Amino acid sequence: MRTPFIAGNWKMHKNSAETAKLIGEIKKLTANVSGVDIAVAPPFTSLASAKIALGSSSIGLCAQNVHWEEKGAFTGEISPQMLLDAACGWAIIGHSERRQYFGETDETVNKRFRSALSAGLGAIVCVGETLEEREADKTSGVVERQLDGAFQDTKDSNLEKVIVAYEPVWAIGTGRTATAEQAQEVHGLIRANLALRLGEKVSSATRILYGGSVKPGNAAKLLALPDVDGALVGGASLLAEDFSAIIRASVKNE
Ligand code: PGA
Repeated sequence: MRTPFIAGNWKMHKNSAETAKLIGEIKKLTANVSGVDIAVAPPFTSLASAKIALGSSSIGLCAQNVHWEEKGAFTGEISPQMLLDAACGWAIIGHSERRQYFGETDETVNKRFRSALSAGLGAIVCVGETLEEREADKTSGVVERQLDGAFQDTKDSNLEKVIVAYEPVWAIGTGRTATAEQAQEVHGLIRANLALRLGEKVSSATRILYGGSVKPGNAAKLLALPDVDGALVGGASLLAEDFSAIIRASVKNE
C-alpha cells in the first residue's frame, strides 16, 4: 500500500556535466520500471543541470539540505522557495553528516522541517544512532529523541510529504549494514512512534526508508521487511547500474 521510495544522496559528488551523464544513465536503466518513486539529490551547484537532464522524467529532484528562512543574511544557506524554484520537490533534513560535522541539532532539524513543509517541499527527515549509542543500548531513546525534536509543532503540517529515513550512523559509508532484524526493529519503533504522535492513519501511510551501505546485494532483503518502504542510498547511487538494481529490488517486493 506504500509505494516504495528510492532516493540517491550524492553528497559532495558530481559536477554539472557528470550529473547530466549519470541522470541520463539512470533514466535509461529505469525506463520501464514502475511502482516505485525515485529521487536524486545532487549538490546544489548541479541542480540546474539535473533539472535539464531529468526533463519530463518522473524522477524527483531532491536537495541535500534546506534553510528555514525564505531569504535574508544567511551566507551559504538555501531557502525552501529557492529549492522549489530550482525544481526540487524534496529536501533531505538532518542527515547524520550534517549533525556530526556541521552542528545540526534537533532544534535546527525541526526549523528546517517545518519550513520545508509549509513551503510545500517534501522532507526526508533522517534519524539514527551512532555505534557508541547502539552499544550502550540507547538506540530507541536516541531515535525517539530525534523524532521528538523533528516533529515538534508539525501536527497540522503537510504530512503526506514526509518521509523518515532511519540511518544508523555506523552503517553509513562503512560497508556495514544493519541486519534485517536490527532494521525492522527500529523501523517498527519509528512507525509506532509516528502513530502515537500523528495517529494510525498518517503513520501507516508514511514511508520509512533505510539508509546505510545499501547495495544491490543487500537491497532485496532490507526492502522486503514489513516496515522498510525504500532506501536512502549514498555510495551506490553514484553508479547507475547499482542504483537501478536497488530500484528494481524495491519493486520486486511489492
Ligand atoms: P551510504 O550512505 O549508502 O554510502 O552508506 C547513505 C547515506 O548517507 O544516506
